[in-house]
Amino acid sequence: MTTESEIKLFLDLEPRSDAILEDVIAGLSVCPKSLPSKYFYDARGSKLFDEICTLDEYYPTRTELSILETHIEDIVSSLGDSVILVEYGSGSSIKTRLLLEAIPETAAYVPIDISREHLIDASVQLKNLFPDLTVLPVCADYSQVISLDLDDAADGRISVFFPGSTIGNFSREHAVQFMSRVHQLVGVGGGMLIGVDLVKDERLLHAAYNDSKGVTAAFNKNMLSHINDRLGSSFLPSAFDHRAFYDPVMQRIEMQLVSRVDQRVRVNGNSIQFCKGEAVRTEYSHKYCLDQFERMSTEAGFVTEKVWLDENEHFAVQYLRTI
Ligand code: AVJ
Repeated sequence: MTTESEIKLFLDLEPRSDAILEDVIAGLSVCPKSLPSKYFYDARGSKLFDEICTLDEYYPTRTELSILETHIEDIVSSLGDSVILVEYGSGSSIKTRLLLEAIPETAAYVPIDISREHLIDASVQLKNLFPDLTVLPVCADYSQVISLDLDDAADGRISVFFPGSTIGNFSREHAVQFMSRVHQLVGVGGGMLIGVDLVKDERLLHAAYNDSKGVTAAFNKNMLSHINDRLGSSFLPSAFDHRAFYDPVMQRIEMQLVSRVDQRVRVNGNSIQFCKGEAVRTEYSHKYCLDQFERMSTEAGFVTEKVWLDENEHFAVQYLRTI
């Protein structure tokens, strides 16, 4: 049995309060207001996201899992042997288990997540399932540049795993920038296994982000509790409503917190005014067409080597290889 005390972070770049404060003030000082979606994920937020993944209405998780299960041999043979698997936004590492079971030899697994406690818990669980696996957890905000030097820690070819369509959180421009950084990390002959959510019937999209149990609403509002915990700010989560809608022109879900009343919130010496009905954007979740995404991958220096789809073509798992 591996216990929590035995898990050491390979790298701890957990965002400091001053960086969070800077982001929060910057996002709330402009019109329209916004907050970065990375702040969904404290321990509670990561758990709420896991719960979202089990909801009937939230099709991406089960669809991606079924694609991975159906094509696991093909997928694993694209990755090759002795891979160092680097996962961005690893959460509970559930999808990764499928890969780790099927890859003949994993040199090391490097889960990267902003949610420190949750990352450690997930690493403990993984060590108990795969006792011989080298797990090198990294707590970091990967929307920033992280310099990751794995040369001394493991021997193998780096492959990046980026499931869940988390790429959808980035604007299209930032997504290309992020993929270019991945390109640099994996080097020539390396690759990235990525999950991409596809454009589909708006009603399905709407339901996935407005679930009937209100888990997504709780997840959205939890961002304010998380910010209160880190900054000592005075947000009242219940004074905001959850809103999520699909923007067909931009092909993305936009999630917001809408102020229910005129109110002022204290954030570290600043007083921020919210009018009744004023929205704070908390997330974009971009949806893609395959050819559109392929153009972006090309721009970042990747060849789209394989694309695996579910039968409804709701979701794509792709293997991108560097050129
Ligand atoms: C983890 C970013 C892929 O955009 O669907 C789930 C997060 N937000 N429900 C997504 C999320 C609302 C999710 N990603």
